[in-house]
Amino acid sequence: MMGSDAQTTPETRSQTERPEAAIFSGGSRRLVVISNRVPRGDGPPGGLAVAMKDALKNRDSLWFGWSGESPPEASDDVLTEQRGQTTFAVTDISADDYAGYYEGFANRMLWPAFHYRLDLSRYTESDFEAYARVNEQFAERVAPFIEPDDLIWIHDYHLIPLAAELRARGVSNRIGFFSHIPFPSPEIFHAIPHKDRLIEGLACCNLVGFQSARDRSNFERYVCAHAHGFWRADGRISVDGRLVRSKAYPIGIDAEDFRQKALAPEVAEKADALVRAAAGRKIMLGVDRMDYSKGLPERVDAIETLFRRYPELVGQCQLIQVAPVSRGGVEAYANLRERLETAVGHVNGEFSTIDWTPIRFVANAVPREEVAAMMRVASLALVTPLRDGMNLVAKEYVAAQDPDDPGVLILSEFAGAAEQLTGALVINPHNPEEQARAISKALVMSRDERVERYRENRKVLAERDSSWWSSSFLSDLESASVDDFAAELLDAVDTVRTAE
Ligand code: G6P
Repeated sequence: MMGSDAQTTPETRSQTERPEAAIFSGGSRRLVVISNRVPRGDGPPGGLAVAMKDALKNRDSLWFGWSGESPPEASDDVLTEQRGQTTFAVTDISADDYAGYYEGFANRMLWPAFHYRLDLSRYTESDFEAYARVNEQFAERVAPFIEPDDLIWIHDYHLIPLAAELRARGVSNRIGFFSHIPFPSPEIFHAIPHKDRLIEGLACCNLVGFQSARDRSNFERYVCAHAHGFWRADGRISVDGRLVRSKAYPIGIDAEDFRQKALAPEVAEKADALVRAAAGRKIMLGVDRMDYSKGLPERVDAIETLFRRYPELVGQCQLIQVAPVSRGGVEAYANLRERLETAVGHVNGEFSTIDWTPIRFVANAVPREEVAAMMRVASLALVTPLRDGMNLVAKEYVAAQDPDDPGVLILSEFAGAAEQLTGALVINPHNPEEQARAISKALVMSRDERVERYRENRKVLAERDSSWWSSSFLSDLESASVDDFAAELLDAVDTVRTAE
């Protein structure tokens, strides 16, 4: 049986009848990207814009999303701006809807639940209604821009129901969805209110991409155990008569570009100043959005444990922790800042000397170039989230290293990056002793071992860069028509066999 989204319209039929045309179209189809935030013309590009750079290169595209404005009464206008081959199309969200959709269901309910923090999840019916409404509005406003041959690529947890809304408006194009954050285990997902609407949204896509094999398996296990899904012989999952392929596409970076940033003369001076201020002491670095998923209080705990267990390290190393404040409208974030400042104050009070402080804490954003330069001079990086979809800081740290004298990456086993960066010292962030042991090991690690570990990680960065990420996702999305064609054949063979 065909996926129901692929049954009805003439455009879709012609796609399934000529699969070769889809395979060899060489990625020339127009791409429609839909995400909550849209890159702005001014200011530095955000993470998603950097990752999408290659996907947008040399092809026509439309990028649709929120304008960044939330007036009390929002109109349904869509403003467009052409930049190169990409049309940026943005729309406002009313202040009330923004509070319920973004701060509410997306960041008070889904974000904590998807990061295994049901204890922090807060649900209200009106938040969900706003979330559903914004997804409907997005579908309504982007649909007129969609042409029959476009590939549609939806990003992230803000927009999980969007594909279903597009299908309801007759959009029969191939739709892909990529989840940048973890997908929780079935038991946790089961506890999320309106989970059926979320699964319906994902099932309306031809392809659903995850950061790691663990996330993909969680999704598939949930669908098969709790949503009447089953695997087909072609590897796709059938959910309520819809066929969806799911796969892991670990997001990558442009490592060479980041290395150049770390070496840029404009920031070299800052890096030198940092080294001078360290006065021969080793620099340990943490760079995270201030989020409870990042394991920050646990990291501070580990630093305290380090100085208790290894008193010879007191005065010999310093943690520089950059943690810009984020999502200030959500209570759990304000509480975290307080908790963190108290913990840092406690460790500094306990161990500081006249000329040395164990932890330097920066709650303001630091420009990307400066972060790159700090990474270059840090002897180790602590990337120790309690849960993380991927964590690109881990990859950036590796990219910024001097290949002849690299630093050591200490990485949580619960970051998606741990499935790839096998050269890291992998730790359980819930165990301060283990984290402290890894730090002490990294501080004395021989150059040979550091180089070997670095090479192992660097190889992954080269093989699985941002361009690999977007091109493999899009090429699988393009071949969705071939899948449908094969499914039709399978069904036809079944029908003939039954008739015989
Ligand atoms: C992190 C996540 C992304 C998410 C973004 C939203 O970077 O990894 O998946 O889209 O946060 O951030 P925002 O500032 O828009 O809440």
